Amino acid sequence: MVRGREWWRTAVIYQIYPRSFADADGDGIGDLRGITSRLPALRELGVDAVWLSPFFRSPQRDAGYDVSDYTRVDPLFGTLKDFDRLIETAHELGLRVIVDMVPNHTSSDHRWFREALDSPPGSRQRERYIFRDGRGKDGDRRPNNWRSVFGGPMWDRVTGEDGRPEQWYLHIFDSSQPDLNWENPWVRERFKDILRFWLDRGVDGFRVDVAHGMIKQAGLPDYTPPKAGASMGGGRQRDPEPDDPPYWGQDGVHEIWREWHDVLAGYPGDRVLCAEAWVAPLTKMALWVRPDEMHQAFNFDYMFAGWDAREQRRVIDESIAAFGAVGAPPTWVLSNHDVIRHASRLALGADSPQGDGIGPRSKGKPDPVVGLRRARAATALMLALPGGAYLYQGEELGLPEAIELPDSARQDPTWFRTRGRKYGRDGCRVPIPWEADAPAFGFSPTGAAWLPQPAEWAALARDRQRGVPGSTLTMYQDALRLRRRERLGSGALEWLPAFARSTTVVAFRNRGITVVANLGRRPVSLPDGTVRLESAPTHLGANGRRMLPPDATAWIS
Ligand code: NOJ
Repeated sequence: MVRGREWWRTAVIYQIYPRSFADADGDGIGDLRGITSRLPALRELGVDAVWLSPFFRSPQRDAGYDVSDYTRVDPLFGTLKDFDRLIETAHELGLRVIVDMVPNHTSSDHRWFREALDSPPGSRQRERYIFRDGRGKDGDRRPNNWRSVFGGPMWDRVTGEDGRPEQWYLHIFDSSQPDLNWENPWVRERFKDILRFWLDRGVDGFRVDVAHGMIKQAGLPDYTPPKAGASMGGGRQRDPEPDDPPYWGQDGVHEIWREWHDVLAGYPGDRVLCAEAWVAPLTKMALWVRPDEMHQAFNFDYMFAGWDAREQRRVIDESIAAFGAVGAPPTWVLSNHDVIRHASRLALGADSPQGDGIGPRSKGKPDPVVGLRRARAATALMLALPGGAYLYQGEELGLPEAIELPDSARQDPTWFRTRGRKYGRDGCRVPIPWEADAPAFGFSPTGAAWLPQPAEWAALARDRQRGVPGSTLTMYQDALRLRRRERLGSGALEWLPAFARSTTVVAFRNRGITVVANLGRRPVSLPDGTVRLESAPTHLGANGRRMLPPDATAWIS
């Protein structure tokens, strides 16, 4: 394929969170056979590819982001044969398949970590992870003051054979997720083998977990974040103080990406590496996607941009400029399995820190009607932008965050490590509804679901929305069809001069489509043309012009 024309530059990639997508065996946890059976629905939706969150062997302490064997399917999700069938079916349907690679840490159940624990300090087995002696006379003070993303300290102490406390190991996330030592060539070689294992099975690429965390600053210096506790990283451009921790965004990671790039380049077709890199500003993140490194990176700055016309224009401009400067496509994303679903997030009174989640006792719960209107408008805006886009399962149904989950159902390690101070991410991970009248809304044949589904989700089930004019599902389908037909992914954005400084309207042209988003409180009259897509009904105004209501987006041509 000619450089510049690769499929991923313009693709819309749908994230499947396997445990919550479709459960074929009825145990209440989604599985690979369930996914395969529902792939035709994604084809009908009109996406180009799917990204599967981890389904590898894992004790599931962080929902599979704690891998204990990178080349085996966890029995919860099925078998390698099921995976082969999944990928074959997806390819037959014209869908590409990306899998999640989790290289920053393994599970503490991984053979490498068990071997490290069974080996003495200084051994090559320990060198695979980040073990350090403690500070103080007895080594009983942690090697530094870093705080885990999930709450609590980033270090745990191991016990020696004689039962006495011994070295400490580093874990950016849960204590069951020890960080690998990426300065060690042995680790690098093992991961190249793992990449090849999945590339040989036909995967079209990898979403790379914690791509910004794998190299730590030499000497592991103390660090106190501007706000208590670590965030997923990178900070946000509008944070008052820069958040630049010694465990995020270190330059050494680029060498790894160049090696990985070469591994993928050795395979036919256009295989893609997409970075989960919480790095700010965007100009720094763009370094992750230089021509010989990764191909794409999630645009978290865009995800968290406020529902404000100036901020939206700013982040869109900056994204196109920053990614464009290195020859990479901009990407756009509004929801994933780590953040409050955008149908709720866009109506939160104040912005909620990533990973905190919302629950029954949260203040300022979002208005679901406002949230859904804004979410639809935001999606209609996003899908008209040039570049690639990521969707998260269930957003095409307009699913909100499940806020009223009982404490007893929660499973996110964040909830446990902060002793319930932060709700965490379970609210965006509830199994999705397919058929309103089926057990577990069609998620599983037995009615089992690993997190309880809100009763109101019956009205949002796919079968209630399919073919229904004005439904969220229909809007997504129409937008994806038009986006493809008009080749918006490979187009170019041009702001409409009449709205270029508007405080309430975002308006641009991309190829033959004019897009107007009204983020204000009053209806806006639309430019001349036929409405091709509307996130909320437009109407004829007293002035004889077509009017766009508040919190709505229209495409015109
Ligand atoms: C980012 C993943 O998206 C998140 O779900 C996970 O908890 C952390 N990385 C740790 O792997």
